[in-house]
Amino acid sequence: MDRKPTITDSLIWGIRELLGKGYKTKEDARIYDSIARHYYKREWIAEKIAETFNKYLPPHISQRYALILDRAAGTGIVTEALLAQGFRVRASDISKTQLDILKSKYPKAVTVLEDLNSKISNVQDNSVFGITQVAATRYFTPEGQKLLISESYKKLIPEGILIWPVFRSEILMAKIKGGRGLKCTSFSISGLLKKSGFDILEIRTLRYSFLKLFQCKLLVAKKTNLIRKSNMKQ
Ligand SMILES: C[S@@+](CC[C@H](N)C(=O)[O-])C[C@H]1O[C@@H](n2cnc3c(N)ncnc32)[C@H](O)[C@@H]1O
Repeated sequence: MDRKPTITDSLIWGIRELLGKGYKTKEDARIYDSIARHYYKREWIAEKIAETFNKYLPPHISQRYALILDRAAGTGIVTEALLAQGFRVRASDISKTQLDILKSKYPKAVTVLEDLNSKISNVQDNSVFGITQVAATRYFTPEGQKLLISESYKKLIPEGILIWPVFRSEILMAKIKGGRGLKCTSFSISGLLKKSGFDILEIRTLRYSFLKLFQCKLLVAKKTNLIRKSNMKQ
């Protein structure tokens, strides 16, 4: 779909998404892509995320050696921005249709069919510079969310960065879908990250509409150097 989606397209999409029927066909993927670009300013948010990874990249690592995991990558709006900054990207999603479209647009990305709530497969521990999952908090189970954090900690290099955007418009849906125990707000997610060995470097508000509902908090967390911290205490 190259034209701007109509309000009706968006409403039908929203209802199908709530019923768990989105992202199945190629047409779903095209409509999602178009709605995300036109209404959710996803390209702009993706650029901010890619720039933020760049900002925290240690000077001794070049982008072409820095691997970023884009989880629940969809049709690749975030992958595109990361590749544009020169990073290596492993894009994963649970939907093969979404990944097929992503691969056809960005052949440089490695694509992997993977559930967000499961372990990260075929990636060495301590080998990844960055991890992100954009607009995906609502697909977590409480256990999957904790697993994502512990897996991220394992896979990231010591200077590694996890970027977790928390969309205000997603909080209610995440609460309904994820049930009790799922952390949905930037406050509760950052608490969980801190408990799991991450330092919060920044929480930046990105506003993509004049409506307050359409804003997102970019949570930027860094793997803590536990050895350095314990040495400092001595
Ligand atoms: C709202 S889209 C976001 C896509 C992309 N991150 C972006 O910002 O444009 C959500 C994506 O999550 C994927 N998804 C849903 N449940 C998932 C799960 N359990 N594991 C991995 N991906 C999942 C969907 O297939 C869809 O591509």
